Amino acid sequence: MSLPLLTAVTPQYESGLTAKLGTSGSVHVVRRCADLAELLGAVAAGIGRVAVVSADLRGLDGAAIRELVDRGVLVLGVHRPGDEAGERMLRRWAVAVVVPADVDQPTLDAALTELVSTADEPRLPSAREPRVDAAAATDGGPGERPSGPHGTAAEVDGEAPTPAGAPERGKVVVVWGPVGSPGRTTVAVNVAAELAEVDTPVMLVDLDTYGASVAQVLAVLDEAPGVAAAARAADQGTLARAALLRLAPEVAPGLRVLTGLPRPDRWPELREHAVQDVLAECADLVPLTVVDIGFCLEADEELSFDTTAPRRNGAALAALEAADEVVVVGSADPVALQRLVRGLDQLAEVTDVPTTVTVNRVRAGAVGKDPGRRVREALRRFAGVEDVVLVTEDRASIDAAVLEGRTLREARPGSPARTGLRELAARVGGHPLAPAGRRAGTRRAARV
Ligand SMILES: Nc1ncnc2c1ncn2[C@@H]1O[C@H](COP(=O)(O)OP(=O)(O)OP(=O)(O)O)[C@@H](O)[C@H]1O
Ligand SMILES: [Mg+2]
Repeated sequence: MSLPLLTAVTPQYESGLTAKLGTSGSVHVVRRCADLAELLGAVAAGIGRVAVVSADLRGLDGAAIRELVDRGVLVLGVHRPGDEAGERMLRRWAVAVVVPADVDQPTLDAALTELVSTADEPRLPSAREPRVDAAAATDGGPGERPSGPHGTAAEVDGEAPTPAGAPERGKVVVVWGPVGSPGRTTVAVNVAAELAEVDTPVMLVDLDTYGASVAQVLAVLDEAPGVAAAARAADQGTLARAALLRLAPEVAPGLRVLTGLPRPDRWPELREHAVQDVLAECADLVPLTVVDIGFCLEADEELSFDTTAPRRNGAALAALEAADEVVVVGSADPVALQRLVRGLDQLAEVTDVPTTVTVNRVRAGAVGKDPGRRVREALRRFAGVEDVVLVTEDRASIDAAVLEGRTLREARPGSPARTGLRELAARVGGHPLAPAGRRAGTRRAARV
């Protein structure tokens, strides 16, 4: 069998490699692409089953490799002779077979035979499946991610040894709610903070592509690079444990934050593949990741066949795909409750993981006397939801906490809203929390 092959290799090695490829029995060269765009275009047009790419090809990143793999293309990576970083990067992007650009003919033939023999094997694991770090497995170089289970904050900060056995993955909880600012961020921040007391450390990730606000709520420095930098590193194959820790400062005891986009118009930076990688890395690193996502779950159907096109809601959809559980937040007024009922249907079209419904800002003024009972009744009747966690309207405490840039646990431990938020946290964590009411430990300085 001889498969059609495309090359996209930097000029220095292009002609030498192509000559060697031309004599191989397992492939035949059908196009020599000048750049990555031409390669992706050819692949999208269905030309070629094998692609040879060089590590230093302009614009090549993890997303491009996945794009090739998703289209069923077998990828052979080449790197400059002696370029260990280039080789490692290709392996991190899970390029199946990697050789130096000055590879001799027999080695190249053997590499191609190996590659072509994988033609019918299953493809790459998805973000939710345990991944093998190819680089760590092969060269064990510095800064590699141990596939270890989670530990205390100190263990995560330090170089804790990796016990043998299958890697244990942390839980990913996504906080979502329909349009109208029902309190997604307030819930995400405070549930994460409550659980940080027990499931230390907790990673809070702001993936709202319409209006990220975790950084402001927790008074994290504007310059904190956060999730956009993590997504970039994921695309470049450099998002290891140490990089993630650097990008996620500890802003409250046991609580690390990957801040969101500083401006909503930067949403194309949060590509789905990169978001999946970031969340998979978080789940490798910490026992609990809490994700705040935007309200909109529409899939941009017209773009879903073009896997290179960024989608505004791609980050939210990727987060839901990675989620083990979703906390659905609605607000306690008639308009918001109706949106919540519709939103639950919409969510069910996207994910089937367990959900916990919470209704925030519960107050008599909006729904009448005995508001908790009325809210429960409405949800039972119109959405068939029997179990709801109620969080009371508590403007004064929440305003005060935001003004101080702290969580309720730190700033207003005895506040009425905290009671419902702690009940929600206990459900999400799957265990009771220690009695509330005391002020949490001293805030640690934000580290970036
Ligand atoms: N229980 C509450 N009592 C009083 N005010 C609240 C409560 N929960 C949230 N708020 C306030 O409601 C507003 C919206 O909350 P939040 O930002 O958490 O919502 P969101 O759903 O994340 O909104 P966005 O659409 O901006 O992402 C904020 O001003 C917040 O302080
Ligand atoms: Mg928000």
